[in-house]
Amino acid sequence: MYCCRKVTDDLYWVGANDRKLPRFEGVYAVPNGMAYNSYLLLDEKTVLFDTVDAAVGERFFENVEHVLDGRSLDYVIVQHMEPDHSATLAQLIARYPEAEIVCSAKTTGLIGQFAPGLQVSAKAVKEGDTLPVGRHTLSFVAAPMVHWPEVIMTYDAADGILFSADAFGSFGALNGALFADEVDFERDWMDEARRYYTNIVGKYGPQVQSVLKKAAALDIRMICPLHGPVWRENIGLITEKYDRWSSYTPEEKGVVIAYGSVYGHTENAAEILSAMLREAGVKTAVYDVSVTPAADIIAAIFRMSHFVIASATTNNGLFVKTEDLLHDLAAHNIQNRTAAVIENGSWAPAAAKLIREQLSGCKNVQILEKSVTVKSALAPGQREELAALADAIRETI
Ligand code: FEO
Repeated sequence: MYCCRKVTDDLYWVGANDRKLPRFEGVYAVPNGMAYNSYLLLDEKTVLFDTVDAAVGERFFENVEHVLDGRSLDYVIVQHMEPDHSATLAQLIARYPEAEIVCSAKTTGLIGQFAPGLQVSAKAVKEGDTLPVGRHTLSFVAAPMVHWPEVIMTYDAADGILFSADAFGSFGALNGALFADEVDFERDWMDEARRYYTNIVGKYGPQVQSVLKKAAALDIRMICPLHGPVWRENIGLITEKYDRWSSYTPEEKGVVIAYGSVYGHTENAAEILSAMLREAGVKTAVYDVSVTPAADIIAAIFRMSHFVIASATTNNGLFVKTEDLLHDLAAHNIQNRTAAVIENGSWAPAAAKLIREQLSGCKNVQILEKSVTVKSALAPGQREELAALADAIRETI
């Protein structure tokens, strides 16, 4: 049975939710599920904005059929060709062969790659092109690398709606509430929106900044993303966060302490440091890299101004989970932070040097000179070393 919601008088949400998905993109746990949004506009022409992931195709097609109510589908705008939005495109064209695909020139190539042999009529559009469909005239905004190179966004000047593709989205299924103002977004969604942004789009801050500049020139009264809730009130809440995240500006002062510990001694040092910082009034968050996924720690580091990496040395190298975190952190382009290091090694501690090397490629990440070396377990007198490190961190906050 169809399950749709009205967005405006002539625009409908025809997407669907997946709460069985264990990991989005094979990597990111989605304990709250995932929404694949698609929107259908009923004007003189009918226009579908993107399709959905294959897992939710059945519900999606019921929704489209219900909203069309016997009308034909004139256009499907493919804003993003990643399969979570395009896996049902070939099926859609099979059901509605009259529909013309509207997309960027790069998307036409990707359609051929993802659906070899699919015979489609595709109209390639570029930034500034317009598509009149009746009361609404749609215009297109290039958004390369937000989050793939082919992405376009669509702006409807009639109602001030930006169809923003992946941007302004979030992990999490929509539980009947379509609009961000129907939930307590800051309490219940913001952490997942941050985790989604940092891990899916975080690498492409400059490109997001470019889109934000273009968006600032538009009269935007609603944002319809491809994941997560629709924004129609307090839009500045999410655009301000995007400005911060994409400019790699911390949201708050504080220290993320991520430790990789084999026998608990590195953990012990991390916890003592955290307690000392808390005692000095500094906010901290502590994660075990063997337990908390790197994606979650990266989101926390995007939030805070400082981070500490504490790690065991194994086989003359970095503890593997620390290495994974540092690799992902650099891959997500972390910038503008202050970092500190704690290492452990029983006979040849090497972690501090290796952590510094891994972070050396990150733009404007200042690594404090002072660090602490633990040999197996904290020795008498090392509380003072940790206190000195806590002081050095505090002085930079
Ligand atoms: Fe939601 Fe980049 O796909």
